[in-house]
Amino acid sequence: MIPMAATDLEQIVNLCKRRGFVYPTAEIYGGFRSSYDYGPLGSLMLRNVREAWIRPMVQQRDDVVLIDAAILAPPAVFEASGHLANFTDPLVDCTNCKHRFREDTLEDPNTCPNCGAKGSFTEARAFNLMFKTEAGPVEGAGSTVYLRPETAQGMFVNFANVLQTSRKRPPFGIAQVGKSFRNEITPGNFIFRTREFEQMEMQFFVPPADGPKWYDYWCATRLQWYIDLGIPAESLRLRPHDADELSHYSAGTSDVEFLYPWGWGELEGIAQRTDYDLKQHAAHSGQRLDYFDPTTNERYVPFVIEPAAGVNRSMAAFLLSAYDEDEVGGESRTILRLHPRLAPYKVAVLPLSKKDALSPLARKIYATLTERYMCDYEDTQSIGKRYRRQDEVGTPLCVTVDFDSLEDGAVTIRDRDSTEQVRVPIESLVNEVAARLGF
Ligand code: GAP
Repeated sequence: MIPMAATDLEQIVNLCKRRGFVYPTAEIYGGFRSSYDYGPLGSLMLRNVREAWIRPMVQQRDDVVLIDAAILAPPAVFEASGHLANFTDPLVDCTNCKHRFREDTLEDPNTCPNCGAKGSFTEARAFNLMFKTEAGPVEGAGSTVYLRPETAQGMFVNFANVLQTSRKRPPFGIAQVGKSFRNEITPGNFIFRTREFEQMEMQFFVPPADGPKWYDYWCATRLQWYIDLGIPAESLRLRPHDADELSHYSAGTSDVEFLYPWGWGELEGIAQRTDYDLKQHAAHSGQRLDYFDPTTNERYVPFVIEPAAGVNRSMAAFLLSAYDEDEVGGESRTILRLHPRLAPYKVAVLPLSKKDALSPLARKIYATLTERYMCDYEDTQSIGKRYRRQDEVGTPLCVTVDFDSLEDGAVTIRDRDSTEQVRVPIESLVNEVAARLGF
């Protein structure tokens, strides 16, 4: 069944706030523009997105390893990577209303979208998107450091370390999941573009001649990842960048794009970074960053194919495409048809009544299931209301413990999508749940 999908971002924003997925940052102080905190369910879902990426990208391959590099880095890294010189957006000010805009996002470069003034923009100036701060206890006397604007540089500066310690050889990849920071001029659209966000990136090092082959491979593989996790293929497309869109390091990039409520937009970029980064870091650090192939006796600097995805942006796309409204037994319900791997809770254990007689058995079942799965336990309100609450946060299965359970040693499993209910013996519950979830 293809969900209706949210057509309006507000539907998702409201659900996320109401059910504890995403809150505005520092809300009790009036909020902090375009910054968000992830609540009990949102933090579970973010973790599931990360794990759903690590599983096929690292765990199920023997040619990719995972690292976790520092967020703060010295200027030398970004001097070499080109971010100090090139990681800029063209910024213009309206001299009439004083609002600032990214020049390349203006529909009409002569008219201010805020106040309507004509010809009021200043000359564009390059605005560097990196956050700069100081390390050390004395203000003004410390050394400048930057918050990384992408996780990628951590993989390049550790290339030699990983090569030596992991005994991998090209083609192989270094993956990383972690926070990045950009002083975006126009953050917005909820968690789509924020100044603090999380990336899932992998640098795949290959013999230079194999670059095009691996680029095609990673474009197809990464597109399929979103489909496998439940985004309908018709809401996704691969779009090659025009020459004037390419990042300073890229010889070719394709974006996996998603059809957001406001139109097609980037979900992930797959870039051919060639040998740009390794050569830059080798030149600036004076260290050798290449590979000696003992089978051919050749030394070369590998080319890099980089699939770069966003944890938060993926979460937004998964939520938007899972959102659905339907009717069950004459009552309307909101449902998140999330892939079981992404759903915050896999199972909700629901004793039919709060009475003491059912609690020990229900608690025991909950304890058994939580050995393997993140589960919820709810014993208040009518069972119908509890089903609706679980549907709304995407819980694939509910397990209902009733008074018959005490007699027949069986419970009812209810499926979120079909609402079908089946009775299963408690002793085979874990296997039944695993079969239905697919893991
Ligand atoms: N290392 C390459 C790189 O950083 P990018 O296209 O700038 O490439 C990769 O970023 C992904 O990171 C994007 O496709 C998006 O999912 C996510 N991303 C980038 N900027 C973001 C922002 N301001 N807010 C949320 N996600 C962002």
